[in-house]
Amino acid sequence: MQKKTVLITGASSGIGLATSQRFLAAQYRVGIIDKDPLPEVLKLYEKEGRILFVQGEATDEQAATRLVNRMNQEWRGIGALVNNVGIFKKVPLTELSLKAWREILDTNLTSYFLFAKLCVESLKASHGCIVNIASTRALQSEADTEAYATSKGGIVALTHALAISLGPDVRVNCISPGWIDTRDASTKKQEPLKPSDHQQHPAGRVGEPEDVAEFVHWLVDQQKGFITGQNFILDGGMTRKMIYEE
Ligand SMILES: NC(=O)c1ccc[n+]([C@@H]2O[C@H](COP(=O)([O-])OP(=O)(O)OC[C@H]3O[C@@H](n4cnc5c(N)ncnc54)[C@H](O)[C@@H]3O)[C@@H](O)[C@H]2O)c1
Repeated sequence: MQKKTVLITGASSGIGLATSQRFLAAQYRVGIIDKDPLPEVLKLYEKEGRILFVQGEATDEQAATRLVNRMNQEWRGIGALVNNVGIFKKVPLTELSLKAWREILDTNLTSYFLFAKLCVESLKASHGCIVNIASTRALQSEADTEAYATSKGGIVALTHALAISLGPDVRVNCISPGWIDTRDASTKKQEPLKPSDHQQHPAGRVGEPEDVAEFVHWLVDQQKGFITGQNFILDGGMTRKMIYEE
C-alpha cells in the first residue's frame, strides 16, 4: 500500500495541483503541504481520507515533519516524494536583497533537501523514488533571474547527488519544464495566449500543467525502474532552438 502514497510540496495550484489530481485518478493517496489552503477541487478527497493536508511553509521543519509523520503513521509509509514548491522573482542584481535571495533559495532548493531528508527512511523501506521539479532556467537565463536560476541549477545537482547516495533503494530524478501555462481556467478564458506564444515552440504549443503531471506519474509508477539521477527537459523543444536576431 505504501507504494501508492505520494507526498507533493506546493500542490494548492499549478503543476502541483495537476500532479495531485493525476495521482488521485490513479488511486494514490496524496500528502500535501502548501502555504495556501487546500483548493475546493481537492476537499472531497480529503473527506474520503485520500489526502493528508498540512497548511504551512515547505521551509518550516516542524510543519514538514508533521506531514511526514502523519503519512508514516496513518498510511504506514511514503512511496514517492515530489518536490515541486517554487517561487519566481525577476529582480535586477543590485536591487536583489540578501533576504530575497535567501527566500528564493530556501523555498526552491533547501525545502527539497529538507523533504528528501525527512522522507528517506520511509522511501528506502518502500523502494520508492523522488521527483524534483527544476526548470529549463537551470540551463539558460533571461536577465535579472540570478536567484531563481541558481536554485534550479542546485536542484539538478541535488538530484544526481541524492541518486548516488540513495541508490539502489531509492531512485531520484528531476524534470525541467519550460513554459507551462499555470493560470487557472477562468483566467485563461479572459486572456488567451497569443498564437505566437504557441508557434515559437517547436512542439507548436505552450505546455500545460498536465504535461508535467503525466511525466511525474510515469516516473513514479515504473516497476523496478532503471532511470535515476537524470534531468528530463520538458519544454516543447525550446532549449533545442537556435535564436539569432536578424
Ligand atoms: N509554470 C512554469 O512555467 C514553470 C516552468 C518551469 C518550472 N516550474 C516550476 O514548477 C514548480 C511549480 O510551479 P507552478 O508554476 O505550478 O507555480 P504556482 O505558483 O502555480 O504553484 C506553486 C504552489 O506552491 C505554493 N508555495 C509557494 N511557496 C511556498 C512555500 N514557501 N511553502 C509552501 N507552499 C508554497 C503556492 O501556494 C502554490 O500552491 C515550481 O518549482 C516552479 O519553479 C514552473
